[in-house]
Amino acid sequence: MKVVLIPGDGIGKEISTSLLKVAEALKCPMEWQVFEAGAEHYEESGVLYEEGLLEAIRHTGIAIKGPTATPIGTGFRSLNVQLRKEFDAYANIRPIQSIPGIETPYKNVNLVIFRENTEDLYSGVEEVISEEEVHALKIITRRASERIIRAAFEYAQKEGRKKVTAVHKANIIKQADGLFLSVFDEVAKEYPRIKTEKIIVDAACMKLVMNPNQFDVLVTMNLYGDILSDLCAGLVGGLGFAPSVNRGEEVSIYEAVHGSAPDIAGKNLANPTALLMAFEMLLKDYGYSKEAKILHNSLREVIEEGLSLTPDQGGQATCTEYTNAIIQRIQDALH
Ligand code: NAI
Repeated sequence: MKVVLIPGDGIGKEISTSLLKVAEALKCPMEWQVFEAGAEHYEESGVLYEEGLLEAIRHTGIAIKGPTATPIGTGFRSLNVQLRKEFDAYANIRPIQSIPGIETPYKNVNLVIFRENTEDLYSGVEEVISEEEVHALKIITRRASERIIRAAFEYAQKEGRKKVTAVHKANIIKQADGLFLSVFDEVAKEYPRIKTEKIIVDAACMKLVMNPNQFDVLVTMNLYGDILSDLCAGLVGGLGFAPSVNRGEEVSIYEAVHGSAPDIAGKNLANPTALLMAFEMLLKDYGYSKEAKILHNSLREVIEEGLSLTPDQGGQATCTEYTNAIIQRIQDALH
């Protein structure tokens, strides 16, 4: 199976090295196509990504990427945004799962967020009316709403999930969020075995913090999804444990949610867990469920044992030592 790998900036190279070693230990038949992209590549070459990257992703349909840095306010446009646009990767899917050994106030959290990735206030339609007034347009379409809602229900059906919750603010944003909700009702009728629920975004935040276990699959528009998915990452230990996939009809791009961590880059201190969890998602999605399970268990065993953790996890191990501990578990499971 051919997979495009974009190591990215900062700690991207370190966590990608970890990923390649883990994949090798799992004996996955991956043919990696590695492409440089991001701010460091831009500084060296004047272009944001190596030639052939887009064609390779189009051809393989699968990419996994490390973080790429984006200058704030000036400079080039984010690679993530460019890739999402190029491949119409409309669904940002983030599983949120408690990890034994990671101290949080919550136990057994297990939910998945489906965030619409292409419209809403992120469409970039803004108008400066005067120095005193700026308008930003919230765009919601039937087409985009339908495909993300359907993706959430399809996932729930396939994975045996019980409930899909639509998150909205239709009490105030009556037309735009109202359209999203009416499409939700229409699509829900096609999945009579799955329970449905509609919840206003502010109440959703409170309920998630009070008792995240009452949720199963959440589906929502771009802005609410952006905020909710980081809130939910916080429920299980933060961005270090948050994988995601950006999925279109033809292409899936897996990644860790965190950034390039310039403060620790090059020091062999990065925690590769989120990228490894993104790889676990990839393996599961493409039929390597045995390898996905072994990786899942190995990661959790090493974290729960707590002897070889990276500094952000409260340990003193390097990225290499942590990776080696995971590999040891994988090898034990395979023998
Ligand atoms: P960040 O996530 O890179 O760092 C925030 C803090 O978390 C830092 O203290 C960092 O050391 C720590 N951290 C993050 N990931 C870690 C890991 N795997 N292991 C150990 N510690 C980790 O966020 P920040 O500083 O806001 O952004 C830095 C750059 O990353 C920016 O240029 C930003 O544009 C980019 N970025 C890229 C993303 C992507 O490509 N998906 C996502 C978020 C930010």
